[in-house]
Amino acid sequence: MLELTNINSTMNLNNGVKIPCVGYGTFRTPADVAEKAVKDAIEVGYRHIDTAAVYENEEAVGKGIKDSGIDRQDLFVTSKLWNTNRGYDETKKAFQATLDRLQMDYLDLYLIHWPANRKQFGDDAAKINAETWRAMEDLYHDGKIRAIGVSNFMPHHIVELMKTAKVAPAVDQIEVHPGWPHTEEVKYLQAHNILVEAWAPLGGQGAKVMTNPTIIQIADKYQKTPAQICLRWIIQQGVLPLPKSVHKDRMLANQDIFDFELADEDMKKISLLSNLGGQCADPDNVDF
Ligand SMILES: NC(=O)c1ccc[n+]([C@@H]2O[C@H](COP(=O)([O-])OP(=O)(O)OC[C@H]3O[C@@H](n4cnc5c(N)ncnc54)[C@H](OP(=O)(O)O)[C@@H]3O)[C@@H](O)[C@H]2O)c1
Repeated sequence: MLELTNINSTMNLNNGVKIPCVGYGTFRTPADVAEKAVKDAIEVGYRHIDTAAVYENEEAVGKGIKDSGIDRQDLFVTSKLWNTNRGYDETKKAFQATLDRLQMDYLDLYLIHWPANRKQFGDDAAKINAETWRAMEDLYHDGKIRAIGVSNFMPHHIVELMKTAKVAPAVDQIEVHPGWPHTEEVKYLQAHNILVEAWAPLGGQGAKVMTNPTIIQIADKYQKTPAQICLRWIIQQGVLPLPKSVHKDRMLANQDIFDFELADEDMKKISLLSNLGGQCADPDNVDF
C-alpha cells in the first residue's frame, strides 16, 4: 500500500514532479463563490487546486489563492485547455490567458481537457491532438508548466498521441467513481507510468453513488461516510481524487480517508457496482 498519510502526501509524476495526493475540485463552482471556497479549502489544508478555463472561475480561483496568504510555490495548481482552443497557436494563446486570469507566471500542471474525436473531426482528429500537444511540450520546455498531461484520453488516444509526442503525458484526468470505475483504462495508464486523476470521485452532482446500499453498508462497516468510502476506494488504487465541495465541513470530511484501509473484498464489491449515474461520458462520442 502507498505511504500516504494525509491529503498533502505526494505521488510522483513521471518527470519527477511531486503532486499532493488529493486535489480540490472547482467544477460548477460559480465565480462569485469560488474565491471564498478556494480560500476556505486552502485554510482547511488543501494545497492542490484543480480548475479549467471552461469553468469560468479561474480569476476567482486565482484571487482565492492570493487571499489565502500561502506562497505560490507551496501550492499545486492545475488548469485545462478548452476544446475551442486546440491547435498549436491557439493553445499557446489560451495558456497565457489562463495564466493572466489566475494572476500567475507558471502552472504546475496543464491538461488538454478533451481529445479531439473522430466523430467531430474525422481523420483530422489525431493531427489536431498532435499539434495541441506540440504546443504543450513547447510551453513545458519553456519552463512555464511543471508537468503536462491530458484529460478524458482513452488508451487509444494515448497510443495515437505517442506516435508524434516527444514528452509523454504525466497525468490523465478521467471520470472515476463507484459505478464508473474505468478499470481497464486505469490499468493501462498506470502500466505506462501516467498518473490517473479521478474526476467526479463522488459521482458528481446528482449521482446515486452516495445513496447506494452497498456503499452505505461498507460505510457503516468502517464507521465512515459514503463520500469517504468513495475517496478511499480511489486512492487505494493509486488514483488521485479531486473532490469538490463549497462547504467547509465537507472539505474537511473529504480529507479523513487515511486512518483505515478497505479490505480486498470491499474494494472488489465497489469496483463491481454499475449504473449509479455521473456523467459516464464517452470521449469518442461527445459533441463539445
Ligand atoms: N477533466 C474533466 O473533464 C472534469 C470533469 C468534471 C470534473 N472535473 C474536476 O473534478 C472535480 C470533481 O468532480 P465534480 O465536481 O464533478 O464532482 P464530485 O467531486 O464527485 O462531487 C461534487 C458533488 O458532491 C457534493 N459533495 C462534496 N463532498 C461531499 C460530501 N462529503 N458528502 C456529500 N456530498 C458531497 C458537492 O456538493 P457541495 O459543493 O454542495 O458540497 C457536489 O455536489 C471537479 O470539481 C473538477 O475540478 C474534471
